[in-house]
Amino acid sequence: MEQRKLGSQGLTVSAQGLGCMGMSDFYGTRDEAESIATIHRALDMGVTFLDTSDMYGPFTNEELVGKAIKGRRNNVVVATKFGIMRSQPVKGGWAPITGISGRPEYARSACDASLKRLRVDHIDLYYQHRVDSEVPIEETVGAMSDLVSAGKVCYIGLSEASAQTIRRAHVIHPVTALQSEYSIWSRDPEDEVLPTLRELGIGFVAYSPLGRGFLTGQIKSPDDFAADDYRRNSPRFQGENFTKNLELVEQITAIAMRKGITPGQLALAWVLAQGDDIVPIPGTKRRKYLDENISAGKVTISEDEMSEIAEALPKGAAAGGRYPEAMMAFLNR
Ligand SMILES: NC(=O)c1ccc[n+]([C@@H]2O[C@H](COP(=O)([O-])OP(=O)(O)OC[C@H]3O[C@@H](n4cnc5c(N)ncnc54)[C@H](OP(=O)(O)O)[C@@H]3O)[C@@H](O)[C@H]2O)c1
Repeated sequence: MEQRKLGSQGLTVSAQGLGCMGMSDFYGTRDEAESIATIHRALDMGVTFLDTSDMYGPFTNEELVGKAIKGRRNNVVVATKFGIMRSQPVKGGWAPITGISGRPEYARSACDASLKRLRVDHIDLYYQHRVDSEVPIEETVGAMSDLVSAGKVCYIGLSEASAQTIRRAHVIHPVTALQSEYSIWSRDPEDEVLPTLRELGIGFVAYSPLGRGFLTGQIKSPDDFAADDYRRNSPRFQGENFTKNLELVEQITAIAMRKGITPGQLALAWVLAQGDDIVPIPGTKRRKYLDENISAGKVTISEDEMSEIAEALPKGAAAGGRYPEAMMAFLNR
């Protein structure tokens, strides 16, 4: 497996990580045995970079990852996050988000709790999941820097932060990675964030590189989602937006089929080709999909094919916001 450097502080990870969120939350049915088998297979195949957060579950995803890496800790780069607070799940649905916290004391207690759930003595990469507009970033990152000094965290990151916030944070403590949504149909980071990261020597972790599964071409109707699937609340997967987006994905599927690969592999290969400072973390809870996704690392896309993809799914063409309106307010702060 190809290795990529994240940031200029010395963190090296597999070119593709594994997103563990869907194993415990948001995306329908769960199967702990298959999820743990998927993590083990990922590690066996050279995927060293696992992504979780205290808000996935909430909390249960970190526990699952902790269980899966027991005895294999030294071969894993564990990335987790703090800052999005949720209440307990409501019956038949998911746990509502109750707020964002970047308060230093919150960061400290969240870190201790994550260490316990993950059953590790340090977190390799610790992100602030969303920027708290009520707390200056200097204070939050100051607390994260203290966690590094205390040996509880090795490297720090931010998620969905604005270019300006990244700059301010980087002055307080070197930021190793920024994690934001990035894929053929979500290209906002290209405008300001990616150039800033490249200027400052910060790595980029691309979440939802498969467009939350949509770019694999496997989702044909909103009814393909379980009743409690988060994607039912997302504007991109609703009504007319869904239909328009399906047409875009059909064109991506046609290009992939001509290449003898799956649309999901084309989507991942596209992200991998955007720069060797970018590490996608496709999410899956199944070994079958994992194998397919890892094989995308061998796919090359010619310049002509890049142009064809750009024509089929131009920047900004996806219909609908990538989050419900209330959650859009937490982005790019
Ligand atoms: N920082 C943030 O705010 C943030 C937000 C969202 C996600 N993330 C992180 O990023 C990771 C990845 O993002 P994501 O899970 O939202 O989206 P994604 O990777 O774009 O897509 C995941 C979805 O695609 C499906 N899938 C995966 N491989 C497939 C394949 N080869 N064929 C068909 N379907 C396939 C999965 O199905 P199954 O689940 O059935 O396997 C799942 O429903 C998450 O796990 C999480 O760790 C971070």
